[in-house]
Amino acid sequence: MTAAVMPTYGRIDIAFQRGEGAYMYDTKGGKYLDFATGLAVLCLGHSHPHIVAAIQKQAATLMHTSNLYNIPGQERLAERLVAKSFADTVFFCNSGAEANECAIKMVRRYHHVNGDPERYRVITFDDCFHGRTLATIAATGTEKILDGFGPKVDGFDHVAVGDFDALQAAIGPQTAAIMIEPVQAEGGVMVVEDAVMQKLRQVCDDNGLLLIIDEVQTGMGRTGKLLAHEWSGISADVVTLGKGIGGGFPIGACMATADAAKGMVAGTHGSTYGGNPLAAAAGNAVLDVILEDGFMENVQRLGDLLRSRLEDVCQRNDAVIEDVRGCGLLLGIKCKFPNMDLVTSMRGKGVLVPPAGDNVLRLLPPLNIEEGHIDEAVAALEDVCREMGQ
Ligand SMILES: Cc1ncc(COP(=O)(O)O)c(C=O)c1O
Repeated sequence: MTAAVMPTYGRIDIAFQRGEGAYMYDTKGGKYLDFATGLAVLCLGHSHPHIVAAIQKQAATLMHTSNLYNIPGQERLAERLVAKSFADTVFFCNSGAEANECAIKMVRRYHHVNGDPERYRVITFDDCFHGRTLATIAATGTEKILDGFGPKVDGFDHVAVGDFDALQAAIGPQTAAIMIEPVQAEGGVMVVEDAVMQKLRQVCDDNGLLLIIDEVQTGMGRTGKLLAHEWSGISADVVTLGKGIGGGFPIGACMATADAAKGMVAGTHGSTYGGNPLAAAAGNAVLDVILEDGFMENVQRLGDLLRSRLEDVCQRNDAVIEDVRGCGLLLGIKCKFPNMDLVTSMRGKGVLVPPAGDNVLRLLPPLNIEEGHIDEAVAALEDVCREMGQ
């Protein structure tokens, strides 16, 4: 019998009833430390009182109006993101893939209004992940993600990260932009080196290309900066956000400089829900917390601590773990055993962690965890490694 919910996911047979802080509770009474955070979404953990209060208040006041009218909360959210970043302007949508769609449309429009409509191609990278829409699966470009979906959306060329000869060769008269994740998270938590990010900026400048940085997973403080590309000191033309921006409420955003966005005039793009009053209230509540003094420094401190603790576990268990990678609180463990075995064993010890590509186990804790949570996760990992290594 066909499942009522279309079976596009391989689901784990647990249902959760409640979440509080860094913990989730399942319907059978099990308690789990959540280092998956709904795939980097719950940046402040579960049921954060400030986010809950903001959503409750807004839901009881005005949930949705459509973008036919002014939305003061959306304007405030955009102004705050602009004030804290390279961007001059923001488009709101509902997911990361939609944010990337906006970015892809934007770079095409940019060249169109510049009088170069032939420039529509975007260079993306091996092991990237940009979403599940028709254009973003083409941007991602792996056989698996494209399989069976007919002709691939035209306009994407792929090269390996750091292969600048291949990049130069891929740039042609039709190239519009380069698009990269500062940490290839789904691909295996692979940090793109600062020097590579800087060189990409240079290549864009030298060739009249726009630089799109996909910060859907890395943005909103996940690496200890509001936007991860800040670590490399470069400025972007377009940055996409999703996941953490709503703290659990679905929001996507595409931020851009005024120049990059100059073609995005009234009527060129839209979304019924994007940035509605409820979403904007959630986004503003997240910003209230993550923009507090010391918040990012604390993420950096916790990230360093978790990383050094994981490296200790790695050293003691080199038959199970190959290396530790990542940045801030987006960390990965390259496994020598199948990563799903570690994911399952960790869950057996009451710790939720997701897998990533390249046989990696990912750690995505809430950004406001305490040291005790790190102790708990590391102890579970140590146990799992000891048992597997035997
Ligand atoms: C870097 C990156 N871009 C885009 C997406 C797609 O976001 P969404 O699933 O919200 O469409 C993801 C999701 O994992 C992501 O990690």
